[in-house]
Amino acid sequence: MTARVRVEFAWPAHNAVRVGDETYFCLERDGVVHVLASRCPHRGGPLHLGRVEGGRLRCPWHGNAFRLDRLCERGVPAVRTGDRITAYVPAAPEPEDLPIPVRQMVLAQEEPVDVGV
Ligand code: FES
Repeated sequence: MTARVRVEFAWPAHNAVRVGDETYFCLERDGVVHVLASRCPHRGGPLHLGRVEGGRLRCPWHGNAFRLDRLCERGVPAVRTGDRITAYVPAAPEPEDLPIPVRQMVLAQEEPVDVGV
C-alpha cells in the first residue's frame, strides 16, 4: 500500500501541489475537482502544462492526447469543500519533502478558472 500524506489548500488560488519531484495538479471537470499526477503515461511529460481539446488532454512534450475521463479515474483521493481542497498524495521518499501547495501553475483546464486576482 502506498503511504500518503494529507494536503489542504485554497482552490482556485492554488491549483497544484509539489511533493518532492512530483507535481499533482487540479483539473475541474463537470464541477468536480480532480487532483492528478502531472506525469504523462507516455514518457512522463508535464501534463499540467498540456492543452484540453475535445475531452482529451494533449501532452506538451510529444503531442499525445489522453481521455480526460480516464485520467480523472487515476486521480488521487480528494474532496472539495467550498474553496478548500483536501487531497491525499503519495508521500515523497525523503521525509523533508512535505507537500507544498503551488499558486496557479496549471494551464490544462477545460474552462479558464477565475482566481479573482
Ligand atoms: S511524454 Fe507526453 S506525449 Fe510523450
